Amino acid sequence: MRNFTFHNPTKIHFGEGQIAKLSKEIPAGSRVLVTHGGGSIFQNGVWAQVESALAGFAISRFAGIEANPQFDTLLRAVEQARGERCDFILAIGGGSVIDGSKFIAAALRHPGDPLELLTGTRVTAAVPLGCVLTLAATGSESNPHGVVTHAVRQQKLPFSSPLLYPRFAILDPRTTFSLPSRQIANGVIDAFVHTLEQYLTYPADAPLQDRYAEGLLQTLIEEGPKALAAPDDYAARANLMWCATQALNGLIGCGVPQDWATHMIGHELTALYHLDHAQTLAVVLPALLAECRERKRAKLLQYAERVWQLHDGDENSRIDEAIAATRAFFSRLGVPTTLSEHGLDAEVIPQVLAQLERHHMTALGEHRDIDLQASERILLRAL
Ligand code: NZQ
Ligand code: ZN
Repeated sequence: MRNFTFHNPTKIHFGEGQIAKLSKEIPAGSRVLVTHGGGSIFQNGVWAQVESALAGFAISRFAGIEANPQFDTLLRAVEQARGERCDFILAIGGGSVIDGSKFIAAALRHPGDPLELLTGTRVTAAVPLGCVLTLAATGSESNPHGVVTHAVRQQKLPFSSPLLYPRFAILDPRTTFSLPSRQIANGVIDAFVHTLEQYLTYPADAPLQDRYAEGLLQTLIEEGPKALAAPDDYAARANLMWCATQALNGLIGCGVPQDWATHMIGHELTALYHLDHAQTLAVVLPALLAECRERKRAKLLQYAERVWQLHDGDENSRIDEAIAATRAFFSRLGVPTTLSEHGLDAEVIPQVLAQLERHHMTALGEHRDIDLQASERILLRAL
């Protein structure tokens, strides 16, 4: 196992009715910028709960952080928060609202051009941030990462800082009951792929991290379809929510090699063709596993055995079956696993490769050997 430092400072309040804890978690006297997306929080009763918990606080509400949050939108929020002298941010929503709010938090304390924060400049200060999660998927509620979309550059720009961990996250599974099935499925796939990207590399003498990951994968396989089949199944929503948080809160990735190539290629597909984040992962991941099967051989066999209970046949057929089972799982959730199902053909490949090159994504994977030629082969397999 490699050396690591693990410190996740986000306090989690999990379960029904926990939104009421907001009044205790936000420091008294704060001027709160409340951020959210479109209208979902008004339709599902989340806003009513937040409003009542925040009675007595000075609130400035910023609406309209879109899926794949846009840089320009976030700059407007920064301006509003400055004008209202906000000193705390409460994000209500999924990964997009929370990521966008992390950027706002950093931009409010950044003396230079906010774009610098997305192009390598370190975050040195940030306004404190808390969140109410309404979509289980990204893990943004208890991690230090964010992704902002720059429309003109057609680029998704990741950023990260320990200063951007939310101070607290409220996870009430009931808030997810209003999700359309597409977003439930997206969430299951995002959490599944986050787990695989920290697990499916090469053996690293980390059996505990392996078993954490296998536990998450098996739970997602069991609970995902239940949540889709029975939209009022609280237990399934609760289990999915806790899985998604743990899939990307840093724990399972401690001390092990990681392979974020699926995400990096997927980001380009979202930026260019506006596929949902998880839709891109469902297309790229099975193709990447097929392409990298020799380098990932030992872990693919472990995955086949422990996650999919594939014990029979020779090694190659077990690997084939594990990749097919992964693809079938995504399909069962209703998410396409090929580009053609999204109406995209081979003409997109040169454009994606050009963007990968422009964004210096030319040495991806746990061995940094997914160069542009390998990405091309992955995209060809994904057609
Ligand atoms: O805007 P509203 O009306 O709220 O609608 C949202 C949005 O349209 C809707 N929604 C959310 N909660 C709902 C709901 N609808 C009904 N009921 C509810 N309870 O869902 C739509 C999608 O929301 P979004 O936040 O975009 O989804 P998700 O959580 O999947 O976030 C995706 C974003 O997170 C980034 C992605 O790149 C993408 O920009 N990621 C962030 C990561 C991180 N911070 O660690 C890692 C991930 O890999 C990912 O890259
Ligand atoms: Zn993701």
